[in-house]
Amino acid sequence: MSMLGSRVEIAPGAVHVPGWLSVEEQRRLVAACRAWAAGPVPIRHTVLPRGGVMSVQTVCIGWHWQPYQYTRTADDVNGVRVAEFPGWMVQVGRRALVAAYGGHDGYTPDTALINFYDGAAKLGMHQDKDEKSDAPVVSLSIGDTCTFRFGNTHTRTKPYTDIQLASGDLFVFGGASRYAYHGVPKVHPGTADPAAGLAGGRLNITMRVTGLADAPL
Ligand code: SIN
Ligand code: MN
Repeated sequence: MSMLGSRVEIAPGAVHVPGWLSVEEQRRLVAACRAWAAGPVPIRHTVLPRGGVMSVQTVCIGWHWQPYQYTRTADDVNGVRVAEFPGWMVQVGRRALVAAYGGHDGYTPDTALINFYDGAAKLGMHQDKDEKSDAPVVSLSIGDTCTFRFGNTHTRTKPYTDIQLASGDLFVFGGASRYAYHGVPKVHPGTADPAAGLAGGRLNITMRVTGLADAPL
């Protein structure tokens, strides 16, 4: 049975919509992400405060995330201001909330972390908590399928639910799940449809509301 376009609530406020993006939308997103990966701030492996290097490669738009803060300029990369968060991406975010929750409530994401996973990359269990807003996080996946682990708000361990996020899938977490631990224990190489524009690896876009404002001039 196909689950395309159906809505699966994984936990209160955490909704998976398989096959939400059309192949054409995926191709457009891949093209936009390729351009952002080239600059003004190039995609790179984030270096953690204690010297560890993330296996995932990341580039940000709107605001730059580095552990554990957002700034307008990528001070840990090349010092340059990140690309603007485009209005069309706000509209994608709103459509995502309509698909997940039935309404968008004026949702206005102002940052996205664009993560690229090669076949060996993983992302450990963590909370998204550097935002000063509890607005939902919208996650779009393109390319190879991954196992996505969605846990609870108290511990990085069980109970959690493992789901498969495939190319075109939407996952939204807000409300009671906004601060749930989550991670990517495994990417499954060779599972992507090349028609989406990625020959290999997995692209994930997470939109968020930072709740930050620029300092007055
Ligand atoms: C993230 O937690 O920031 C990314 C999640 C994912 O790659 O699905
Ligand atoms: Mn996260």
